[in-house]
Amino acid sequence: MNHAQAMDNMYRYQRYIYDFTRKYFLLGRDTLLARMEIAPHQHVLELGCGTAHNLVRLAKQYPQTHFYGIDASAQMLISAEKKVKTWGNPIILKQGLAENFNFHTTFELNQPFDVILFSYALSMIPPWREAFEAALANLKVGGHIYIVDFFDQAELPVFFQKGLTRWLHYFQVHYRPELLAYLHELENNQRGTLTITPLYKRYTFIAKFKKIK
Ligand SMILES: C[S@@+](CC[C@H](N)C(=O)[O-])C[C@H]1O[C@@H](n2cnc3c(N)ncnc32)[C@H](O)[C@@H]1O
Repeated sequence: MNHAQAMDNMYRYQRYIYDFTRKYFLLGRDTLLARMEIAPHQHVLELGCGTAHNLVRLAKQYPQTHFYGIDASAQMLISAEKKVKTWGNPIILKQGLAENFNFHTTFELNQPFDVILFSYALSMIPPWREAFEAALANLKVGGHIYIVDFFDQAELPVFFQKGLTRWLHYFQVHYRPELLAYLHELENNQRGTLTITPLYKRYTFIAKFKKIK
């Protein structure tokens, strides 16, 4: 079974309760959406956009900005398309893998994106490094990549950390300490500037990476 099929199997029925249930544990998404720097007429992409929860919120906040989403799961995109239709303004959604897309061939755009978002997606993408590299390759110099995802739970009780880790593994979600090390390495190699903000006693983190070359 390939990854897209695995995601379809995971979300075929989950998608009906996804938005209602996830608001209780995909914390920090609204904080990130409020902090993102987005301008009119820019092109903004979410990789692993799921039901388009974030894209529709952003599109309401920035009606003159162009929004795009990619998700591995065609099932999730059925829910996303429904939500996007009720919003009205076009949000372009494509089924595909975050590690394998191109602004021109996937979206027929003539220039790379201004802003790219991963919201609780890198923790579900096995080739997360390739996905981040693909985002960098499809981002303008001066553009931003934002991430919100599970952190190390270091300020929470150990029983909570263990229970959460077991539960997340059941959903094929993995906290990736190596992701933060990799982002710091990119900054050390002067590929960008990085800000990491832990939230909710390190339950989650927000990362802002600015591409400088
Ligand atoms: C936990 S959900 C988060 C959805 C959304 N970003 C949000 O914040 O509500 C993770 C999403 O990533 C998608 N996904 C997993 N692996 C992917 C990949 N390699 N490429 C694109 N999407 C992927 C899943 O299908 C799922 O919709």
